[in-house]
Amino acid sequence: MAKHHVVLFFFVSLVLALIISFICDATKSDDETSQLYIVYMGSLPKEASYSPTSHHLSILQEVMYGSDIENRLVQSYKRSFNGFSVILNDQQREKLVGMKGVVSVFPSQEYHLQTTRSWDFLGLPQSIKRGKTVESDLVIGVFDSGIWPESKSFNDKGLGPIPKKWRGVCAGGGNFSCNNKIIGARWYPGSEGESARDQFGHGTHVASIVGGRKIKDVSYHGLAKGTIRGGVPSSRIAVYKVCNLKCRDDNILAAFDDAIADGVDIINISLANENATEFLKDTVAIGSFHAMEKGILTVQGAGNFGPNPSTILSVAPWLFSVSATTTDRQFIDKLILGNGKTFIGKSINIVPSNGTKFPIVVCNAMSCHGDYTSPEKCPCIDKKLVNGKIVLSGDVGGGALAYPHGAIGSILNFTNDASFITHRPSLNLDSKDFDLVQSYTYSTKYPVAEILKSDVVQDTTAPKIASFSSRGPNPIVPEIMKPDISAPGVDILAAYSPNGPILDAVISNANEKYIILRGTSMACPHAAGVAAYVKSFHPDWSPAAIKSAIMTTAKPVIGNYNDMAGEFAYGSGNVNPQQALHPGLIYDITKQDYMQMLCNFGYNDTKIEQISGEKSSCHGDSNRYLVKDINYPALVILVRPHKRFNVKIHRTVTNVGSPNSSYTATITPIPKIKIKVVPKLLSFKSLHEKQSFVVIVTGGAKSNQTMFSSSLVWSDGTHNVKSPIIIQRFS
Ligand SMILES: *[C@@H]1O[C@H](CO)[C@@H](O)[C@H](O)[C@H]1NC(C)=O
Ligand SMILES: *[C@@H]1O[C@H](CO)[C@@H](O)[C@H](O)[C@H]1NC(C)=O
Ligand SMILES: *[C@@H]1O[C@H](CO)[C@@H](O)[C@H](O)[C@H]1NC(C)=O
Ligand SMILES: *[C@@H]1O[C@H](CO)[C@@H](O)[C@H](O)[C@H]1NC(C)=O
Ligand SMILES: *[C@@H]1O[C@H](CO)[C@@H](O)[C@H](O)[C@H]1NC(C)=O
Ligand SMILES: *[C@@H]1O[C@H](CO)[C@@H](O)[C@H](O)[C@H]1NC(C)=O
Ligand SMILES: *[C@@H]1O[C@H](CO)[C@@H](O)[C@H](O)[C@H]1NC(C)=O
Ligand SMILES: *[C@@H]1O[C@H](CO)[C@@H](O)[C@H](O)[C@H]1NC(C)=O
Repeated sequence: MAKHHVVLFFFVSLVLALIISFICDATKSDDETSQLYIVYMGSLPKEASYSPTSHHLSILQEVMYGSDIENRLVQSYKRSFNGFSVILNDQQREKLVGMKGVVSVFPSQEYHLQTTRSWDFLGLPQSIKRGKTVESDLVIGVFDSGIWPESKSFNDKGLGPIPKKWRGVCAGGGNFSCNNKIIGARWYPGSEGESARDQFGHGTHVASIVGGRKIKDVSYHGLAKGTIRGGVPSSRIAVYKVCNLKCRDDNILAAFDDAIADGVDIINISLANENATEFLKDTVAIGSFHAMEKGILTVQGAGNFGPNPSTILSVAPWLFSVSATTTDRQFIDKLILGNGKTFIGKSINIVPSNGTKFPIVVCNAMSCHGDYTSPEKCPCIDKKLVNGKIVLSGDVGGGALAYPHGAIGSILNFTNDASFITHRPSLNLDSKDFDLVQSYTYSTKYPVAEILKSDVVQDTTAPKIASFSSRGPNPIVPEIMKPDISAPGVDILAAYSPNGPILDAVISNANEKYIILRGTSMACPHAAGVAAYVKSFHPDWSPAAIKSAIMTTAKPVIGNYNDMAGEFAYGSGNVNPQQALHPGLIYDITKQDYMQMLCNFGYNDTKIEQISGEKSSCHGDSNRYLVKDINYPALVILVRPHKRFNVKIHRTVTNVGSPNSSYTATITPIPKIKIKVVPKLLSFKSLHEKQSFVVIVTGGAKSNQTMFSSSLVWSDGTHNVKSPIIIQRFS
């Protein structure tokens, strides 16, 4: 058990990873070589006589010769796109790959699950103007670990009847009941409790961030007290429980199949595969492409694998990929040593101090060398040493090892931008302060310390990007800027499942109705909330237009990114909901544009027609060089190292501001590189009018810098339409 605690602490920045480290792999196939595969078949054929299920069965008949087909076919996707999941062996898989109608075959993997003051900080105060009628027609699809339907955040007081367009069902299982707030619920094979009820807390938390009702006087044990609410409190929520401790790929695809057909408006998905994957083998990319066709924007967390480059997991251009930033609220904790010196550390520690100072003892998990059974070798588990004391640990595992043996608290050496919940006097110090406390401990005969209950302070440096937030550049399509946007994802208070765990105490039924969590999982519903807010004012805007509006109006994010372009951490910047309603110009992208991009990316006509269900005009003349010309509201320009370059990149903007308006281009200059916009002035005579322009970038061979960031701003004096430009030397 002790070992688990150690593992747990090393993963402490990943909320769900905590839980994951406790379980074994859930899927086991019936024989050794067989496993669960997803067979993706693109769009549904339009003929009325077509029956997806009989087609799926007849395909399987050919590869399995009738052996137990019904038991091996796990799910059929047949409402919004075509495909199925099935248990196959290698031979059967190989046969399927070449068959007519099959676009891709890939193993079903398991995804990891990756208020509030945060909405005020973003400039969306409670008093804000709302497109209330439209907002209450919005349905947000939540793909997660389910929801706790009885949470106050999901009460339906004052909400009208369910929108007429809704075609979903309330099939939550067990005693799960819907209301006029939670209007749909589905669960998929393998769901804990055979119900859409959230046993883990994550889904309840994210759902309340995006669409929770306003609840007064909420706090975490007295900390951060205030009113919590979601971004669009009048919207409706449809729950698709695809995750338990992990989330199965084939369930995610099934949820997309249902949600699109049910009539959701925005899909917010906080899950990500461990590694970024090619589009046709990525269920979120596949599902969200078909959602985009129907005008539904899918918002996805970037992942919690930062701060290294190319760790972003959300890569498709039709996804809205969100990284996590801090808000201006920080949880700090104070340590007072016996010599009167005080230090400020991080933690969400709810234990008040009565003024007593406790002895400090040093114990490092590392010094146990993996042996957590003998107190002689591992001081952290030596009851005589640690009982009734505060342990000082240079690594994060020491505290967790010592608690079961009577340690009352801990001082850990752990620099992080988030604070973690603890029900003990315990805090994290940065390594400089830790060293000072360690010197005090070694140089004093009876070293003692008092740790106060946490406090909430204002952080004037916010927003900063969280270190855990996954970074670009895009590992699959480097020409497409990722992440797109950032939003609050650090220390967010929102609703919780009473059955969910709390962290360092590893109490599994913590009975907490509200809790503080962090992750791109918390940032994602903030961005989804903003997208829903924009959609409530502009119901006719395409998913790309909503994305563009939010990206080009984003606020700057500060930070130190070393050699990397900061945009690869925060995208276009932090969401700015009020301004996003009035972007002036938008960079729109149609389904045909995406098809052209897939063609340029290298998919041939046959594949593109299967995926899109439309005739493809790309004729297989793939030209990777043109991928950059997709009308993305952010520009990445790849150039060869140590070579002169002269690159043109095309864009088209649509006027959604004033009918009669003129916009001039401004470029942020960069040394030794010339960036020109032609034409420099765009004049519009009407709304929805489109104008095209070219950005020409030239530079020399000499510089060995690998990344440059600049920006393009179109301004009519009222609207400033900003796009980041990144020039990246790429071999
Ligand atoms: C529904 O059942 C769950 C257990 O599955 C239980 O925890 C919960 O309290 C029940 N809720 C109601 C309203 O009965
Ligand atoms: C939104 O997406 C985030 C991150 O991808 C996820 O954690 C969260 O559960 C989702 N929320 C909803 C309401 O779907
Ligand atoms: C992800 O990539 C790493 C490194 O390439 C590899 O070790 C790991 O097995 C991959 N994970 C999955 C789920 O494919
Ligand atoms: C403070 O709490 C500690 C441990 O809970 C207890 O031993 C001590 O007597 C208390 N001191 C006072 C002054 O109440
Ligand atoms: C504290 O942690 C840092 C790494 O984060 C490490 O370099 C340093 O050695 C640690 N200090 C002690 C005293 O263990
Ligand atoms: C596209 O590629 C597949 C093989 O990947 C091939 O079977 C098909 O004929 C190709 N289609 C065209 C139009 O070239
Ligand atoms: C449009 O603006 C220009 C200059 O700002 C002005 O001369 C012209 O009359 C305006 N046209 C209309 C239709 O308002
Ligand atoms: C780039 O070139 C300069 C001199 O031309 C050199 O001092 C520097 O170390 C080089 N940097 C890298 C990262 O190669």
